[in-house]
Amino acid sequence: MISAPIHVLIVIFLVLSAGGQISAAGDKPETEPVPAAWPEQFHALLLMNKSGSLEVVDLWYDWINGRNFNIIQKQLGELSYDLEWNNGTSFYYTLDASKSCRTVHFEVGILRPNWLDGANYLGQRRVNKFLCNVWEKVDFLWYYEDVITKRPVQWIFYTGREAHVMTFEVGAVLEDEKWQAPVYCFNKEEKNSE
Ligand SMILES: *[C@@H]1O[C@H](CO)[C@@H](O)[C@H](O)[C@H]1NC(C)=O
Ligand SMILES: *[C@@H]1O[C@H](CO)[C@@H](O)[C@H](O)[C@H]1NC(C)=O
Repeated sequence: MISAPIHVLIVIFLVLSAGGQISAAGDKPETEPVPAAWPEQFHALLLMNKSGSLEVVDLWYDWINGRNFNIIQKQLGELSYDLEWNNGTSFYYTLDASKSCRTVHFEVGILRPNWLDGANYLGQRRVNKFLCNVWEKVDFLWYYEDVITKRPVQWIFYTGREAHVMTFEVGAVLEDEKWQAPVYCFNKEEKNSE
């Protein structure tokens, strides 16, 4: 048996593996990045801007329990609650003296963790301090995700409303008792959406 010196074997190996990489790259284009699925539970603070109307939204996404909560503070204005259940029922209410509550039934429930599947990749863009991959979910929004951490940085709805993600706590869950709509949501007639 001929035994080649080890450095010759290493050179042959490197040449073969380099050749393999080149042909693999030539055969098929590099696959486009896809957005990370949303964690099944997270808490985020969002700064919303709709043509200069600012809101801070305290978002509690809880797919495991089939619920999603937006606690919305308008700048120097109303604090309101948008509590959405996966059965399609949403409650919009305030907890102040006005005791207002509106119940809406949607055909579909809350966003699924993979709701970004099928979004069109548009490339990379620098947003504020973050290099982001950008996708478009047609008829809905543009989604910007940090290239390195894969966390969402912002999304912009077709309506012009912008959501800027200020904090993103994976696994954080709001206590059950906070998910209770007030009693005045349950003793009035309900409306259907659309
Ligand atoms: C909000 O958006 C408007 C444009 O619609 C812009 O002029 C303004 O600077 C934005 N404000 C903040 C705090 O981002
Ligand atoms: C959906 O679930 C919520 C929370 O359990 C409940 O209050 C609401 O009545 C349900 N809606 C329907 C249509 O069953």
